[in-house]
Amino acid sequence: MGKLDGKIAFITGGARGQGRSHALTFAREGAEIIVCDVAEQIPTAPYPLASTGDLTATARMVEDLGRRCLAVQSDVRDSDQMREVVERGISEFGHLDILVANAGIESFGKAWELTDEQWDEMVAVNLTGVWRSCRAVIPHMIERRAGVILMTSSIAGLKGLANQAHYCAAKHGVVGLMRSLAIELAPYGIRVNTVHPSSVDTPIIKNQAMYTLFSGGKPDATLEEVTPAFRDLNLLDVPWIEPQDISNAMLWLASDEARYITGVTLPVDAGLMAK
Ligand SMILES: NC(=O)c1ccc[n+]([C@@H]2O[C@H](COP(=O)([O-])OP(=O)(O)OC[C@H]3O[C@@H](n4cnc5c(N)ncnc54)[C@H](O)[C@@H]3O)[C@@H](O)[C@H]2O)c1
Repeated sequence: MGKLDGKIAFITGGARGQGRSHALTFAREGAEIIVCDVAEQIPTAPYPLASTGDLTATARMVEDLGRRCLAVQSDVRDSDQMREVVERGISEFGHLDILVANAGIESFGKAWELTDEQWDEMVAVNLTGVWRSCRAVIPHMIERRAGVILMTSSIAGLKGLANQAHYCAAKHGVVGLMRSLAIELAPYGIRVNTVHPSSVDTPIIKNQAMYTLFSGGKPDATLEEVTPAFRDLNLLDVPWIEPQDISNAMLWLASDEARYITGVTLPVDAGLMAK
């Protein structure tokens, strides 16, 4: 028996990285999966976002586990697209139990040097996109008087970071959204929580722009050169954690084992916040 037998989960940004890991973890525990991903480049992200091939690959991997998967190329910045993917999912699977609002981007710059475009795209994806994803599923969850909403924030949603004021502002904003929704949705039996990873081994950190930032500006810095800097962030002796570590926390929060947990900010951070 799986922890999510009979459940339907919608995961945004599921073409790769943590979103794909959540999809596969939930599928292994019995859930049918709906994934969406923008699957094209967003101009201010200084690294490649996922492709349509990545999105199709996630769907195939879920199906290889014997579960159904609806994979749709859609953008969390677009309310109509969010409503459409949710409606398609509900008509295909019958209902929807879990949202993991995971889609996100990174970009860098001192707060006073960020462009309007960097700020606006960051907030549009990492904060407003989370709200748009929630708004698309909430009426259905209210009708069923059940549901779980999980949001991927970051340790950047709990503390400030140099060169990432817009990312931190968006990820802190997600916490305010979660806390308010937890209050508004508790009467309907819907739980809402945030998860706060430190560095996770995915393309959002494994890219040249990040290595350059971590090296203090060296354009050709290598992963090997910056690994000690990643390691120094954490209390535990690892430079980064695995997507599966975040999926394990998401699975627990999504399952009935966490049935009385709502309104919490859960760091999964190798001790970064405690350091
Ligand atoms: N990897 C880390 O170190 C780390 C740490 C803390 C928090 N996070 C957060 O975890 C989440 C998942 O990131 P990841 O580590 O898997 O990185 P990733 O880049 O591999 O995955 C993010 C996915 O979101 C998709 N996406 C981006 N904008 C989108 C949009 N507008 N609509 C739909 N999909 C969109 C991307 O195409 C990509 O597939 C993000 O919210 C990120 O901010 C990551």
